[in-house]
Amino acid sequence: MKIDMNDVERVLVSEEEIKEICRRLGKEISKDYEDKKLLLVSVLKGSVPFMADLMRSITCDLRIDFMAVSSYSGTKTTGCVSFKKDLDINPAGYDILIVEDILDSGLTLAYLKQLLLDRNANSIKICTFLDKKANRKADINADYVGKEIPDEFVIGYGLDYDEKYRNLPFVGVLSPKVYADK
Ligand code: IMP
Ligand code: MG
Repeated sequence: MKIDMNDVERVLVSEEEIKEICRRLGKEISKDYEDKKLLLVSVLKGSVPFMADLMRSITCDLRIDFMAVSSYSGTKTTGCVSFKKDLDINPAGYDILIVEDILDSGLTLAYLKQLLLDRNANSIKICTFLDKKANRKADINADYVGKEIPDEFVIGYGLDYDEKYRNLPFVGVLSPKVYADK
């Protein structure tokens, strides 16, 4: 079955803009981490396309790893973060850059950051593709932001609704009619 494009209310970040954002962030990160021991930590599953694009626009030596935590159910954050997959690499001594798809309430990243802080990483910073600042509940901010967006539920480029739409090559606003009768 094909994705119904009527489920997308409007495009928020086009494929072209995604490329520009990754190029810009890659350049900045390459400069800042030139003399560091960089470990990119992707938060599954939403950040997979962003991780793949971002890592290829970074020119310094780096390693990658994946973690899985979640605090979302449907279109609302549950406020309760659960831990699903740990790192393979011991983060002690690394300069960690957490790669996220979207920073919303901030509860997920606050939890993750604390977890990594307890493991003797050299430094921990956050790179998020999207930032929904208006909805912040935890005291947390990203060090690198792709784009600030309004408080609307978005899909595509890794972001899902009910595990769907992650493969859309752009970011779009989910039409409220999709979840209105849920
Ligand atoms: P936070 O803990 O509220 O900051 O939630 C962050 C996580 O919630 C993100 O990594 C996403 O997986 C998910 N999320 C937040 N906003 C959206 C959205 O608009 N669309 C899809 N997923 C979202
Ligand atoms: Mg996520």
